[in-house]
Amino acid sequence: MSARVTVVEGDITAQEVDAVVNAANRAMRGGGGVDGAIHRAGGPEVLEDCRRRFPHGLATGDAGWTTAGRMPARWIIHVVGPNYRAGETDRALLVSCYARALAVADELGASTVAFPLVSAGIYGWPRGDAIDAAVSTLGSTPTSVEEARLVAYGRAAYDEIVTALSR
Ligand code: AR6
Repeated sequence: MSARVTVVEGDITAQEVDAVVNAANRAMRGGGGVDGAIHRAGGPEVLEDCRRRFPHGLATGDAGWTTAGRMPARWIIHVVGPNYRAGETDRALLVSCYARALAVADELGASTVAFPLVSAGIYGWPRGDAIDAAVSTLGSTPTSVEEARLVAYGRAAYDEIVTALSR
């Protein structure tokens, strides 16, 4: 089975789900964008767990988990999207983030997982294509995850995701 893909507009850190996905970087020591918001909301425990579990960071396209600290979610599934702005334009790496995140969710037994639009912010992946990669991968990858919730940050992203889901 594949997951039911849904969309909400809002802040990923407030989602009441089993796991939230973080758009991290290879160093796995925090950053700006959604990564900064997740570390702030989760508290220092998140960085401590990142250091413990990922002493050498994480590869682009890969996923791994930590505690979600003080967030309502139980786990954070960190993925490292390709940095389009820096010339990492291999779409397979972006697709891999979603597929690997679902595989980690399956290992954890997470049935509801909230996703941001990986690489579509600071890393500069064109938003329409980032949405297409998210919707098609989440909607077609075999998993035990029941709901894959795309969290749109702003109305424009929300409207574009709704359109993509209706195609
Ligand atoms: N909730 C949901 N979505 C959000 C939130 C939020 N609180 N904040 C931002 N977004 P970005 P990237 C959206 O830049 O492009 C960091 O420094 C945002 O509008 O967070 O993968 C990391 O450490 C966009 O649609 O991640 C890396 O160095 C999406 O989340 C680098 O940025 C992703 O934007 C990763 O860049």
